[in-house]
Amino acid sequence: MPEHFDLVVRQARVATASDVFESDIGVRDGRIVSLGRGLAAGAREIDAAGRVVTPGGVDAHCHLDQPMPAPLRMADDFDTGTRAAACGGTTTVIPFAAQEKGQSLRAAVDDYHRRSDGRAHVDYAFHLIVSDPTPQVLAEELPALIAEGYTSFKIYMTYDDMKLDDGQILDVLAVARQRGAMAMVHAENADAIEWLTKRLEAVGRTAPRFHAHARPMLVEREATHRAISLAELVDVPILIVHVSGREAVEQIRWARAHGLKVFAETCPQYLFLTAADLGIDDSYQGARCVCSPPPRDASNQQVIWDALNDGLFTVFSSDHAPFKYDAPEGKKPGGEEVAFRHIPNGIPGIETRMPLLYSEGVLGGRITLEKFVELTATQPAKAYGLHPRKGSIAIGADADLVIWGEGERVLRNADLHHAVDYTPYEGMRLRAWPAYTLVGGEVVWDGKDFHPRAGRGRFLRCGAPTLLPRRFA
Ligand code: URP
Ligand code: ZN
Ligand code: ZN
Repeated sequence: MPEHFDLVVRQARVATASDVFESDIGVRDGRIVSLGRGLAAGAREIDAAGRVVTPGGVDAHCHLDQPMPAPLRMADDFDTGTRAAACGGTTTVIPFAAQEKGQSLRAAVDDYHRRSDGRAHVDYAFHLIVSDPTPQVLAEELPALIAEGYTSFKIYMTYDDMKLDDGQILDVLAVARQRGAMAMVHAENADAIEWLTKRLEAVGRTAPRFHAHARPMLVEREATHRAISLAELVDVPILIVHVSGREAVEQIRWARAHGLKVFAETCPQYLFLTAADLGIDDSYQGARCVCSPPPRDASNQQVIWDALNDGLFTVFSSDHAPFKYDAPEGKKPGGEEVAFRHIPNGIPGIETRMPLLYSEGVLGGRITLEKFVELTATQPAKAYGLHPRKGSIAIGADADLVIWGEGERVLRNADLHHAVDYTPYEGMRLRAWPAYTLVGGEVVWDGKDFHPRAGRGRFLRCGAPTLLPRRFA
């Protein structure tokens, strides 16, 4: 009696983090149930015709509908943000339930569920952002939320409304150690940035390009080293997010050489943008590329490529932070061209993350196909407790798949599916794009059209990170 499949993807060149092999993929009830050649007919069939099929991407750092101080507002909510994710080959997103100072962490999570319920087109989990580690948060809320499947949280060493001091960082890292959670660290020295910003303002240097002058590499290097030291003191793994260049990479290499469990993330903006994209004159256009840490220069881009290749980086995320350029709730707060300190930080990239890395990394001969899968899907799923359900093509995994089409196309914001009015990568030539994206065995993107189904995206509770053997107290 032949096996019954809801879907068979035929003649796939399946890529995982360790292997590339020819196979059909049999899907039943949203999961992969068979791999092999010559599978029996499925109720539906897609002929991959020898094209590469990777696991759907896991974007482990993106911001969707995160509450902002007025007049700011993120352009993408869970509807538009996950639509764009799907069209770019990402099938799981992990945005942030952000605690405001004075707010309970639980209230932030409840609010974020209200924002996401029934609106997502791909599966999603939440990281927490801990900005107010009160005794109640440390002793009760954070441990309870970790136990309920919110097993990772981000902490900030910069931004007035988010930053923690070193004592607070040690407190939250101690909870991460005790409860087996993953702490993500935004490493930039807040006081040094403020000092530099005031000096730039005093001489009228307030154009967008001076954002990069206020956040030189050394403020990231110092904070990266401090975060590593604090984690060493507590004896807990950490993951440094959005690493931008050589000096931070050197700190992470130093930590690894000393046996410390330090993971690291980088993002497209550190491969494909430089500080020149913030402006070579005082034009406001550069506000489009204001993000923190800022993009560096060509030699730092090369350091990031090398570190992607040699295993320094654990994950490759978008850090999608969607603010419109020409909007009073976006890069022109209240409709004004403001001084750089008031420009909302962050750039869009949820749809372009996978195609850019595939095009320039894999087809550009800089990284292997297996490394691409590792960085965009498998390791993000492991780092945040979603593997093996997510991040791999294996029996029992969710049938979240990307079938890649090759061929040149020019990247145009008009062709993207987010709600932002620009892409920083306008005009770049892509060599590959998802021809199909499947979520749970359903086609959500066919290379031309997006196929929504209300409530398709499910909330995922995360387990413990599985990048390391479990050894917590
Ligand atoms: O500039 C950035 N990266 N904005 C998003 C928020 C963050 O710090 O990741
Ligand atoms: Zn950050
Ligand atoms: Zn971010």
